[in-house]
Amino acid sequence: MEKKAMRGDFRSDNVAGIHPAIMAALATANQGTAQPYGQDDSARALNARFSDVFEAEVTVFPVATGTAANSFSLAACMRPYGGAYCHEGAHLRLSEGNSLAAWGHGAALVGLPGEVGRIDPAALRQALAEAPRGNTQKPQPDAVTVTQATERGTVYGLDALAAIGAVAREHGLVFHMDGARFANAQAHLGCSAADMTSRVGVDLLSFGATKNGAMSTDALVVFRRDLVEPIAFTLRRAGQTWSKMRFAAAQLQAYVEGELHLDLARRANARAAQLGHGLARLPGVALLAPVEANIVFATLPPALIDALQAQGFGFYRRGPGEIRLVCRFDQPEEEVAALLQAARAAG
Ligand SMILES: Cc1ncc(COP(=O)(O)O)c(C=O)c1O
Repeated sequence: MEKKAMRGDFRSDNVAGIHPAIMAALATANQGTAQPYGQDDSARALNARFSDVFEAEVTVFPVATGTAANSFSLAACMRPYGGAYCHEGAHLRLSEGNSLAAWGHGAALVGLPGEVGRIDPAALRQALAEAPRGNTQKPQPDAVTVTQATERGTVYGLDALAAIGAVAREHGLVFHMDGARFANAQAHLGCSAADMTSRVGVDLLSFGATKNGAMSTDALVVFRRDLVEPIAFTLRRAGQTWSKMRFAAAQLQAYVEGELHLDLARRANARAAQLGHGLARLPGVALLAPVEANIVFATLPPALIDALQAQGFGFYRRGPGEIRLVCRFDQPEEEVAALLQAARAAG
């Protein structure tokens, strides 16, 4: 925590530390020498391990950020005048500094509306049926990208993912998933990793680990063999092929070992559920989306928001009377209880 300790830090899951098992894996990997740039055994073992996890033959590229996973993977497979269809509130579209356009030489994101952060498969189908193909004034459909769990803290059901995958296939589009909070979504659905990816036609997955216990390490998981080469070259040219790759591989191995990632995600989701449930019972408070992962969006009376911040609770304001609270894997239950108690007292 920072110098002046907060009573509860709900600003982001990125405020969390590194999980001890991942620290231990780093220490173990820190023995002797290893061939650099992913040429050592640990990188090969990582592909094998993740192929087990996803029940499909996958190639894993460790990357430093979710933005890198999202934008370099799409940039590698899109035409410069191509468009990736996404939810209008997608992190890729609003919060990555137009990285896809920079690395994709102009490749665009085409935003679609949709309730609580989710693209509606029927609306996607309609948008693609009406896509201005051949019109040089407009981006040409190349990809679809969904965020699982969504930026609104909701989760796509497997049927919706399958429907989006089917639309992508019909239109010959790459299907990308921004899984910055993949484990939180999987924990919510109680399904396998394959159910959310290979079985619904996902081609590219940005598999988040940083927010849920890793140290600046996410993974780009590639399900289609023909996309491996363009992605490998794009990552190398973007400076994302790490020399000391064994440390990224060690973290990702530890992250999925014994389903640690799901265990940690369940903890964060449980805190958010507790928080959402408690807040929703207060007068003048309304949840803006069902709490399905580790994020709570709510409207509160402005005086209550001020009172909570004045009492040392950290969270972001998202508009007049609207706040976002994010729970993390190492969030003590007491922080949730303290916030709810302070809200009841101030309300
Ligand atoms: C949904 C989503 N996707 C991608 C990212 C990108 O992560 P990074 O900040 O590591 O680039 C974030 C980060 O907050 C996110 O919330």
